[in-house]
Amino acid sequence: MSATIIDGKKLAAATRAEIAAGVAALKAEKGVTPGLAVILVGDNPASVSYVTAKEKASREAGMHSVEIRLPADATEDEVLARVRALNDDPAIHGILVQLPLPKGISEKKVIYAIAPEKDVDGFTPVNVGKMLIGDDCFLPCTPHGIVKLIETAGMDVSGKHAVVIGRSNIVGKPVAALLARKGPSANATVTLCHTGTPDIAAYTRTADVVVVAAGRPNTLTGDMIKPGAVVIDVGVNRVPDATKPRGYRLCGDADFASCAAVASAITPVPGGVGPMTITMLLWNTLQAARNSSCAQVGM
Ligand code: GUN
Repeated sequence: MSATIIDGKKLAAATRAEIAAGVAALKAEKGVTPGLAVILVGDNPASVSYVTAKEKASREAGMHSVEIRLPADATEDEVLARVRALNDDPAIHGILVQLPLPKGISEKKVIYAIAPEKDVDGFTPVNVGKMLIGDDCFLPCTPHGIVKLIETAGMDVSGKHAVVIGRSNIVGKPVAALLARKGPSANATVTLCHTGTPDIAAYTRTADVVVVAAGRPNTLTGDMIKPGAVVIDVGVNRVPDATKPRGYRLCGDADFASCAAVASAITPVPGGVGPMTITMLLWNTLQAARNSSCAQVGM
C-alpha cells in the first residue's frame, strides 16, 4: 500500500474540540445552549446507529440534545406535527429528520416542513438554493465534511479534475456543487457520474480526486484510478461476515486494498467520512444557535 490514510476520526476530534469551545463560549456570553433535535421514525439498524452517534456527539460537545423516536407505523401527519413543534421550540436550534423515512411518509413534505433557519442538514430548498448560488447557508454535512477531508489530505482542488460517483441529494449532487464553487477549497472541474454513465472508469482514470458515493461495494477499484489520485469513500455497506461478533463488517464503495495501492491518499471505512458528517452537523447546530442569539434568523 502506498496511499496515506486520511484520518477522519482525528480531524473530527480536533474540529469537535473547537465546536465544544464555541458551545461553552456561547453559553457563557449569551446564556444560549445549542439544542439539536433528531427525529427517527422506525428502527432501520443503520439509522438507529447513526442517530445514537449523533446524539452522543452533541451531548459530548455540551449541546442540549433531544431524540424523538417514532414507531415505523407513525403517520406522516404525526411526523409533520413533531417537526412543526420543534420549529416553534426556542430551546431547539437544529432539527434533523433521519432518512430514509418509512414508505408512506413523504420525505419531501417532511423536509420542506423544517424551518430553514433550523435546517442543520442543509436539505431544505432554501438552503440547497443558497448553497448553489454561493450564499451563506447551512452546508449539507457529508459534502462539507468531504471538502474538509480533501483539505486535510493536502490537496488544493482548484483547477483539478474531481469525479463524483453518485447523484443523491444527500451527497453526490451537493458535493459536486461545492467542489465546483468559486473560492477556496473548491474551483475544481467536476464530472458527476451515475448509474446512467456508460463507462465510469473512463472518467475516474482522468480524475485527481474521486468521491465515491454509489452505495455499492467495489464501485471503484484500483485499475479505475490515476496514480496519485485522492479517493474519498462515502459508502457504508454491511457485508455478512461470520467471523465478526455482529455477523457483518463494514466496507466502503471503493475496494480499499487495490485503490490504496494506486492512490496518494484515501479515506478508510469506518473512520473516514462518517465521523466528519456528524462533526459538520454539530458545526451547523452551533452556527444556528449563534444566529438565533444574534436574532439573525434566515441567515
Ligand atoms: N441518512 C443518511 N445520511 C443522512 C444525513 O446526512 N442526514 C439525514 N437526515 N439522514 C441521512
